[in-house]
Amino acid sequence: MHLDEKIWLFLSFGMIMGFMIFTGYQAVALGMGPPSHKETIDPQKVDETAPFDEPGIKQIAENEYEVVMTLQVFSFTPMEIEVPAGSTVHFTLTSKDVVHGFQVANTNLNAMVMPGHIQKISQKFDEPGEYLVLCNEYCGAGHQAMSTKIIVK
Ligand code: CUA
Repeated sequence: MHLDEKIWLFLSFGMIMGFMIFTGYQAVALGMGPPSHKETIDPQKVDETAPFDEPGIKQIAENEYEVVMTLQVFSFTPMEIEVPAGSTVHFTLTSKDVVHGFQVANTNLNAMVMPGHIQKISQKFDEPGEYLVLCNEYCGAGHQAMSTKIIVK
């Protein structure tokens, strides 16, 4: 093998190692991964664990609501949510069984809801109307039917 071949081999190998170390360092040091899903929960004990022992909607300030919701095959609890137009709604979500999706039509709301994790997202609802909530992760035979709605008045 020529010396210049060895030099190039060494350089390319060094570059690969460098990139690997750099990305590995980022993954560990910066805590890569979704910013949510940091809070965990025992998926077997959702019904007994606050705040999911009382799923529902609660007003927390003027024009601000908190919705505690569980997702399970093949429904959302609570079934219907109603808020006045102009409200900001903070959703706290978890799954009682498999991975579900939480997508609200005509908004940017779109989250993956995994068993064992608590998902938190917020949305301001300015336009009155009925917002369709859909599960967008395949979760079994009843996946197509898994939906609910948010009513903004
Ligand atoms: Cu739940 Cu698809």
